[in-house]
This record gives sequence, C-alpha cells and structure tokens, in this order.
Amino acid sequence: MTGWTDPDLHLGRDALEALQFKRLRWSVRHAYDNVAHYRAKCEKAQIHPDDLKTPEDLARFPFVEKDDLRQTYPYGLFAMPREKIRRLHASSGTTGRPTVVGYTQDDLDTWAHLMARSIHVSGGRPGDIVHVAYGYGLFTGGLGAHYGAERLGCAVVPMSGGQTERQVQLITEFGANVIMVTPSYMLAIADEFERQGIDPRSTSLRVGIHGAEPWTDLMRQEIERRMGIDAVDIYGLSEIMGPGVACEFAATKDGLAVWEDHFLPEIVEPETGKPVPDGGAGELVFTTLTKQALPMIRYRTRDLTRLLPGTASAMRRMQRVTGRSDDMMIVRGVNVFPSQIEGLILKEVRLSPHYIIELSRDGRLDAIKVLVEVRPGLNDDHADTRRQSAESLGQSIKIHIGVTATVEIVDVGRIERSIGKAKRVIDLR
Ligand code: DLL
Repeated sequence: MTGWTDPDLHLGRDALEALQFKRLRWSVRHAYDNVAHYRAKCEKAQIHPDDLKTPEDLARFPFVEKDDLRQTYPYGLFAMPREKIRRLHASSGTTGRPTVVGYTQDDLDTWAHLMARSIHVSGGRPGDIVHVAYGYGLFTGGLGAHYGAERLGCAVVPMSGGQTERQVQLITEFGANVIMVTPSYMLAIADEFERQGIDPRSTSLRVGIHGAEPWTDLMRQEIERRMGIDAVDIYGLSEIMGPGVACEFAATKDGLAVWEDHFLPEIVEPETGKPVPDGGAGELVFTTLTKQALPMIRYRTRDLTRLLPGTASAMRRMQRVTGRSDDMMIVRGVNVFPSQIEGLILKEVRLSPHYIIELSRDGRLDAIKVLVEVRPGLNDDHADTRRQSAESLGQSIKIHIGVTATVEIVDVGRIERSIGKAKRVIDLR
C-alpha cells in the first residue's frame, strides 16, 4: 500500500497565491464562456474576465447567490455539457425550490482528494476503519465522506444516519477508529452507548469529524470527554462542493483550514457586500478555482465567520461558523444565534445539550422559550433543583445575550433527536 501524499497542502504562501491566481483566471473565464446566466450578470455589471488583472480585481465581479441557482433550476449554472456530468446532488429545498449541484469525474476526484486530506489532518490514517453516519443520498455528507475515506486508504462502513442502536453495535463490533457524523447526532449516539451500558470511551474510536451544522467549543469538549476521542470541525456546502471545503487540524484545533488551492475565500459585510479585511467578521464568500461542472464565482454562503492566518499550513483558517445570517433570530430587537444559547446551556452542569428554541408572539412582543433536557440520570431531580437550573440559565441568557427567555427543563428524551442536521429553532410567529 502506498502512503498518503499531499504536496499542495504544504505549499508556501507565495507559491499558493500564484497557483490560486492562475486558477482564478481560468475559473472566471470558464464560467463566463460557458454559463449564459453568469455572462449576463457580468455584462450588467460591466465587467469582463480580461479585467481580472490582480487578485484584488475579483471584488469588482458580481456575487452569485442561492437565488441564481433557483432561477436557473435545474442545470442553468452548469458549465459543462450534460454528458460530462457524473453525479448530481440536491438540497432538500425546505425554504423554496431545491437546488441541484453537479460534478464531472475530475470534480469527483478533487472532492475525494480534499476529503481524504480533511480526514488525514483530523487524525485518520490509511488502514483505519471509518464509520460514516452522515446521511447518504442527495445530501452531500455521506457520499462525500465515503469517497474521501476510501481515497485515503481506509475501510468505510457506510452506515448513514438513523438506527441509533445499530450504530452503537457496528461501531463496537467492527472496531471503528474514525466516526464522521453531525455533532448533534454524535451526542445522540453517545447517549445510546450509555443506555446500553457500554462505556463509549472504551471503543476503538480515536477521531470524530463533525460538521454540517453550527456547534460550539463547549460541545467539542463534551463530545471529547464522553467519547474519549479528538473531535474536529469540518465545513462545506453543496454549492461549493460538499463537506471538505475546510477542516480543522487535530494538532491545533484552532479553526478550520480552508483548502485554498481549490477555493478562494473572502469576507464581506452582509448588508453592503463590501470586502472586509482578514481578521474582521462578516459573511463568507467562496470562489471555486478548479470546479468544472459548476464553477461558482463569489458565491454568498450566508455563513458568518472571519479569516485568520494559517497555523498548521500556509492556508488561511476560518473561525468556527457561529451561524448563518438566515438563522439569526431577532428577539425584541436583539440579535440571537442558537449557538450562543447552546454555549450557555453547556455551562450548566445539570443540563444536557439537547435543546430547542421556540419563538412566539406575546401580544405585540416576541417571546423566546428554551426547552432543554436534564442530564441523563437526573429525571428524578427535585422540582426545586430544576427550578434553580431554569433560573440560572435564564439569568445567564439575560446577562450574556440581553434577552429575557422562559426556560423549561424537561425529562431526558423529550427533545426529538435529529439523525442529521439538528433543527434548533421553531418559529411560531
Ligand atoms: O452540510 C456539507 C457537509 C456535510 C459539511 C458534512 C460538513 C459535514 P449543505 O447541506 O449544503 O452541505 O449545508 C451547508 O451547512 O452553509 C453551513 O450553514 C452549514 N455548515 C456546514 N458545515 C458546518 C460547520 C453540508 N462545520 C451549510 N459549522 C453551510 C457550522 C456548518 N455550519
């Protein structure tokens, strides 16, 4: 068996930027020449690929948004003839028409390579057994993880999401070393281990690769403590590729290295679209540098983060995504993200990170209610103890976020478990 090699990961900053700019010019030209909708946008903005003389010129090009994908559904943004397409994935379309993304064989190879890189920097090694509990199907999580693990030289258990009892059985009996799963479902699996009386720390798992939804550093500590593994953050989105656009190094756990040899990140002000210098917070925008089937030039992700210099490699890092601009709740004029509430729940020793946030209208005012489970084993807690936990969480929400929330502490198992991306907010307004 040959070992895993990945020379581009170790390019110096200058060589990386030279490679990026060469690829950027190709990608903008490729989109312009082959996607009528994109060409029309450029013509409207009076900009042409020949105007891209320095990397800074990219900021003069128009943004592409989810709505462009919807308007041109299903294949209008594809830049390759249909017979060159080898795979299609689609979003569930919970908020409108689904969006469809496509890949050529080269795109699939790049994706497998970048997922293999992600698993490797997370601590996975050739020869490991990788248990994939991301959903298989139109969602990019399962198949993205699958081909990456195979590319790295691992044995894959294509479990998909759900059947939680079976997850525990297969992890234990097949001897998985790496698990790839959303952080919320990782916790549901941890609970199931405990329910079956198996110590999850006693398995052969070493590494957890978690993403597809926002999570917090305290959640990482919770997963690491309960599972006895290294838990790292992986990021991606279907429109740009799927999982493996950025990933944390297990050695540093200091935010996600963006795979800049294939994707160019920018941060912009969400309201104005104006570029924000590195280090500043704002909305993440990606340009694909090598994608053939679906090149994306300045795609607005809606994800909020900031760009930081590289540490483990010359590639820049993005800070953990705290939420999407569309997930932000505005409660009586205060901006609230579910991840902020999660952070405070995790500081309460008697509360578990299984929670849901309900928004409703109380007369003309917004009301926010947090339903959160007690820790396993604490169902019999005295009513007074529960009241204290509720009051304590309510106070810290008031102090740290600035809104008055009603907190209801519920029994273990009362909050529905997701088997993929957790739904944290129910808006009844
Ligand atoms: O969720 C791809 C993926 C699968 C990533 C498995 C990681 C692991 P979509 O379904 O298109 O693709 O959703 C993309 O999910 O814009 C973010 O809002 C959110 N997201 C993904 N990873 C993270 C993360 C996949 N690590 C959308 N932290 C993105 C926070 C994340 N949010």
